[in-house]
This record gives sequence, C-alpha cells and structure tokens, in this order.
Amino acid sequence: MINPVYSAAEDRYENGMKYRRCGSSGIILPEISLGLWQNFGDTAPLARSREMILHAFDNGICHFDLANNYGPSYGSAEATFGRIMDSDLRPYRDELFISTKAGYDMWPGPYGDKGSRKYLISSLEQSLKRMKLDYVDIFYSHRFDPDTPLEETMQALVDIVRSGKALYAGISNYPAEAAATAYSYLKSHDVPCLLHQVKYNMMHRDPETEGLLSQAREHGSGFIAFSPLAQGLLTGRYLESIPSDSRASRDASLKKDSITPDLIQRLKGLKALADERGQSLAQMALAWVLKDDLVTSVIVGASSTSQLMDNLKAADNTRFSAEELEIINKLTRA
Ligand SMILES: NC(=O)c1ccc[n+]([C@@H]2O[C@H](COP(=O)([O-])OP(=O)(O)OC[C@H]3O[C@@H](n4cnc5c(N)ncnc54)[C@H](OP(=O)(O)O)[C@@H]3O)[C@@H](O)[C@H]2O)c1
Repeated sequence: MINPVYSAAEDRYENGMKYRRCGSSGIILPEISLGLWQNFGDTAPLARSREMILHAFDNGICHFDLANNYGPSYGSAEATFGRIMDSDLRPYRDELFISTKAGYDMWPGPYGDKGSRKYLISSLEQSLKRMKLDYVDIFYSHRFDPDTPLEETMQALVDIVRSGKALYAGISNYPAEAAATAYSYLKSHDVPCLLHQVKYNMMHRDPETEGLLSQAREHGSGFIAFSPLAQGLLTGRYLESIPSDSRASRDASLKKDSITPDLIQRLKGLKALADERGQSLAQMALAWVLKDDLVTSVIVGASSTSQLMDNLKAADNTRFSAEELEIINKLTRA
C-alpha cells in the first residue's frame, strides 16, 4: 500500500515538548528523544516504525538516536530510517538532529569493532549510505577502547567533523578518566564534545556515583541518558507476567531471570507512588531522570505508538518531594 504524503503537524513545536540546552553549545534538544536500538530493524513492521517516527516528530521529538549496529539485523535500523527519510522526512532534514555511532561489533574481522580510525571513518561512510544522508548531526565513539590510543579515536572524531560528515562529536559509555581526556582532546582541537551518552535510570545510578553528570557540565558538554526505563522494567510491562511480545521475552539484552519476585514487588511499590503522582510508572521513571538539569535529554525506546504517547507526557511533572525521592531510593537501591 502506498502511504499518503506526510505533512508534519503544524503545531509540532507547540505540543508541550520542552527543550534543553546541550552543555555550553548552541544546540538545544527535546527533553525526550527517540532511540532506534531494538524495534526498528528489518524484523519489525516498517509501517509501525514509520508511524512511531512520524508521531515522534509531530510531537516535537526532533532528535533520533541511531548506531551502526542497531536492528536486528545490524545496520537495518539505519536502513529503516533511510527509507523514512526518503518517503517522508526529507523536506524536514534541517529540523532533525540525527545521531549515529561506531564502537561495538559491526562487521567481521579486525576493522569492524572498537575504536580505530579505520573503523570509525569507514563505519560512518556506511551509516550515511544506509540512512540516505550527506551528514549526521552528531557522531559518537560508542565506547572507550582501552586497546586503541584515545588520541587516535578522538582525532578520528575531529577529522570526521572537519570533513563535514558530522556536525558535532560525542562519546558514549566512557569511564570518567577516559572521558576527561576525551573532553580535553576534543576541546583543544576546536571540536568540543557535544554529548556524553550513558545509561542512567532509577535503578542504574553509576553516572551519579562516578561523577559523569557533573563532569559533563564542567566540560561544557551535555549529558544524554539511555535506557531511562531500564529497557522496559520501569513501566507497567512486567508487573503481572512477561508478555510474549516484550523485550524480556526474547531473553537477549533483557534477561527473563532478572525479573525476580522481589523486583516485581518493588516495581509495584513504584507503581503505587506513580499512581499517587497521577503518572504512569514509565512517566515517573522518565520524570525522575529529567528532574536533574544536568541531564539534557532522555532517549526512550518504544515498540508501539501508544507507549511513545504515554512517555511524551512524562515532562509534565518532573518535580519530586523529598519524601517521594526517599521512597524511590528505598525501592530501587535495596
Ligand atoms: N549508547 C549506548 O551504548 C546505548 C545502549 C542502549 C541504548 N541506547 C539508546 O537508547 C535508546 C533507548 O534504549 P532502550 O530501548 O533500552 O530504552 P528504554 O526506554 O529504557 O526501554 C524501551 C522499552 O521499554 C518499553 N516501553 C517503553 N515505553 C513504555 C511504556 N510507556 N509502557 C510500557 N513499556 C514501555 C518497551 O519495551 P517492549 O519492547 O518490551 O515493548 C521499549 O522497547 C536506544 O534505542 C538507543 O538509541 C544507547
């Protein structure tokens, strides 16, 4: 079936989405961004992917987060995005902030993984072709590679930005010490790091304990949180059972045996608090990450437009009383 011609919602920037400045850069990002890690590959229905992406854009989500190996299969989320660029989003290219990354395994052999200049530059070439783009807005080193000199990885980012194939550079999953070196290197080469992308949610607080949030601010970088819903745990998805269409049912990145009776009890406690706040559990979990102004944006995943619609309302109330925070701490840090 041929899709009707897409015309973006006229009120897409007046629909309630708020925007935050990304460190000390000129870029502002929506508080909620959409990530294409798991549900946009070639095993997902294209019509559903298209609907979610366009719904996001119609609601002020102008930042889409990708990586070379998102799918499944590897590369196919970028290919899906490229198809939607061609069919719908091309007229809006200048309104979009699109990321991709390289750093984890992508193709066989020694040059399809980790942090070498060869890998980063050739991977970005491939990503641009799949996404049907001339440039991405931000290109990330997806992880710190202790076996490659950090200067090599960072110089590759600098050269990529100089080549015009990315407008900004970012890092993801860097431990504090390597992040400090990366920030300094990039700044001294006039390509300041735009974003550090790290896992951060109520149940995973390493960025706080490792000082990554304040470190990003000190270096003029933004901080963007991934898996803010702990891959779906911090939603109503698993309160009764493991649904057959859920991420945990695939037993891959989210393991079935991580959903213990104790965890479910604690999630039910969180759900009761969310009810009192007039939020869904997912909305409260996103609001909890966004309560800190050191966070520029949260990158949510979704497997349906209704999940995305639920998540969009999170930013309506990001204030928590000391009592509420205490309850959350008790339930998530036990
Ligand atoms: N830099 C990195 O190394 C890295 C690593 C991981 C992720 N990321 C980025 O972060 C993005 C988000 O990661 P994530 O997918 O793990 O995020 P997440 O937002 O923590 O989890 C998304 C999953 O939660 C469930 N969900 C979402 N909204 C829901 C709602 N309102 N009600 C019920 N369930 C809901 C869905 O699960 P079901 O699919 O079961 O429905 C969805 O697939 C990725 O797409 C990627 O862009 C980056």
